[in-house]
Amino acid sequence: MRNLNQDTITEAVVNRFAHTPDARLKEIMGSLVRHLHGFAREVRLTEGEWAQGIDFLTQTGHITDGKRQEFILLSDTLGLSMLTVAMNHDKPEGCTEATVFGPFHVENAPQFALGDDISNGAKGAPCLVRGRVTGAGGEAVAGATLDVWQSDDDGMYDVQHAGLGHAQNRGVLHTDAAGQFHFRSTLATAYPIPHDGPVGRMLAATNNHPWRPAHLHFRIAAPGYETLVTHVFRAGDEYLDSDVVFGVRQSLVADWVERPDGSYLLAYDFVLNPCT
Ligand code: BEZ
Ligand code: FE
Repeated sequence: MRNLNQDTITEAVVNRFAHTPDARLKEIMGSLVRHLHGFAREVRLTEGEWAQGIDFLTQTGHITDGKRQEFILLSDTLGLSMLTVAMNHDKPEGCTEATVFGPFHVENAPQFALGDDISNGAKGAPCLVRGRVTGAGGEAVAGATLDVWQSDDDGMYDVQHAGLGHAQNRGVLHTDAAGQFHFRSTLATAYPIPHDGPVGRMLAATNNHPWRPAHLHFRIAAPGYETLVTHVFRAGDEYLDSDVVFGVRQSLVADWVERPDGSYLLAYDFVLNPCT
């Protein structure tokens, strides 16, 4: 394998991975190499441009730590996260649609009883959230685990507040015997994804804003059903049609109704897809 040129190198690299014992890994490596080389050919990538690309990826790695996941932001802003979600969660009609997970979920969030206030001092207008979890046949899903998380009135998640030291606007609850849930939190507001790093610079260089429309995250799990990772988006938000991570589905948009005392009510029901 010598004297490879621009016409022969791609197959040589694919063949280098031809003995990969895991068939799926072999398929992924071959396709990745073909598409990467195809991309470089299509744009006639210069050495200077590829050096810039390497520098971008290096910066993405450097800014990433336990609290900041720039690679997820990159995947999200390139639409790759949403494409992967859409391909892997093609559900029957009537089931609640999935959307991106995002980087701000925390495992083992505090447990709450139905009716509790999960805001734990977070800034924002009070909000009551209630709904029901059913299966595709309309059956109540009792004891479903609801993992909920959202930003505060400043558009920040608790984990973004340096030194906060406790959870805010996140928690785990369980549906009652009728599949119902209700809890209190604060009004979700639109927020920009972290944009002081390489992904933010990419957005600025391509004339794109970093905003997500107001939303509330849910991960809902119950035995016998596909785990649902989704958000509910706030109707009327100015960023619904330009979400920086391409996550909005019309079926997930709901009204947060303002009440006379200045608090809000969100009512939203979820339909889980049974495992087959
Ligand atoms: C989020 O909704 O938490 C989120 C999703 C993608 C990128 C950044 C944040
Ligand atoms: Fe979010």
